[in-house]
Amino acid sequence: MWRFAYLECVSCGAAQPVGYEGYLCPKCGNNLLVRYETEHLRREVREGRFPDRARSDILRYAAVLPVQGEHLFPPLRVGGTPLYARPGLAAAVGISELFFKDDGLNPSGSLKDRASAVALAVARARGVSMVAGASTGNAGSSMACMAAAMGTPCTIFVPAGAPEAKIAQLLVFGARVVAVRGSYDDAFDLCLELAGKHGWFNRNTGYNPFTREGKKTVAYEICEQLRWEAPHWIVVPVGDGNIISAVGKGLEEMAAMGLIRRRPRLLCAQAATSAAVSRTLWKIERSGAGGTSGAEVWCELPGLLECVRGAHTVADSICVDRPRDGVAAVRAIMESGGAAVTVDDDMILQAVAELGRKAAIFAEPAAAVTWACLRKAVDTGVVEKSARVVCLITGSGLKDVASTQRAVGKPLQVEPDVEAVERSLGL
Ligand SMILES: Cc1ncc(COP(=O)(O)O)c(C=O)c1O
Ligand SMILES: [Zn+2]
Repeated sequence: MWRFAYLECVSCGAAQPVGYEGYLCPKCGNNLLVRYETEHLRREVREGRFPDRARSDILRYAAVLPVQGEHLFPPLRVGGTPLYARPGLAAAVGISELFFKDDGLNPSGSLKDRASAVALAVARARGVSMVAGASTGNAGSSMACMAAAMGTPCTIFVPAGAPEAKIAQLLVFGARVVAVRGSYDDAFDLCLELAGKHGWFNRNTGYNPFTREGKKTVAYEICEQLRWEAPHWIVVPVGDGNIISAVGKGLEEMAAMGLIRRRPRLLCAQAATSAAVSRTLWKIERSGAGGTSGAEVWCELPGLLECVRGAHTVADSICVDRPRDGVAAVRAIMESGGAAVTVDDDMILQAVAELGRKAAIFAEPAAAVTWACLRKAVDTGVVEKSARVVCLITGSGLKDVASTQRAVGKPLQVEPDVEAVERSLGL
């Protein structure tokens, strides 16, 4: 039933066997990475069995998912999202090629569906009766959607201030919703305690090792859609850091399997007022250790991780005080030779409007951050003009219409009268 070989601590490297059901490293308390036998995977690639061309969803990459058995996965089309080329915008920003990977087109409207589908499959393989998770909104509504597809009960903790559409989704999908009068970090800690106490399967981002396994499929898709000619940069919005670490892991696996020759660099895109991962990276760069990597450095990372007090941003999905997958995120960015860029809320809202008008993509603010940060990264010389770049659009704009209205204003209002319309439109 299990396809992975062992679990490895992201910091101290200690290995745990497949049957280990804890979430963290028992030696040092850090997060775990799911590891596979590469030799077998290389053979699958060589003999044309990977990817599975009969599938167009995440199960196309089933050989690199931790659990085996289609019946364990929700009967929904998760993944298989489009990669749009936008040459006009590439020219406007001054780079060679630009693509947007629109993961807002997943069943619940965000990239999180990839993670929830895989986490739920693991939960079902283990025979658990209740799944739980804390969320800024998307991870929870995604888990609720996947759980509804499988008839699995789920309990979701969200900050009471989460955008209404995300809370409505949770309720529509029939989750037991606990709206916490506090921050995402409060919701996260409550979920940890209650899930541990009552034996629920905990999907929390940056805690459950299996969410990364679902999210990494977006990297596989991007590279396959580009015919395995990997881009120079992938721009990823970062809150807890789980998505960016997953993208990095997918790229590392593809390189080990011989699928890609070039390892893209990861650009960490954050809101300036919720930028713990970026601040950690800059601190490491300033210390002169930016170019180094390896076991000694990963051991030091937990102690170097920055936190924010009272993070706030219009991009609610990436509003995080303490990045729960910060160590894996910083490690993935450093291993890729990547960089971090931050932008303010005005730039994020402007990016929402620009993506709609110029790329025909409706992104929620947390996803539009990638476009805002790419512009800044090109302007400041972080991303070179000859680059081929992919921006990850992680969530649909329909998730947070109130913020969008701040970006685009209100429509013209007229009386139901032809002349009145003509007058208003200046016809
Ligand atoms: C739309 C969207 N973008 C980006 C992120 C950031 O992902 P992570 O917290 O793994 O860094 C999230 C997480 O909630 C999200 O929902
Ligand atoms: Zn450890």
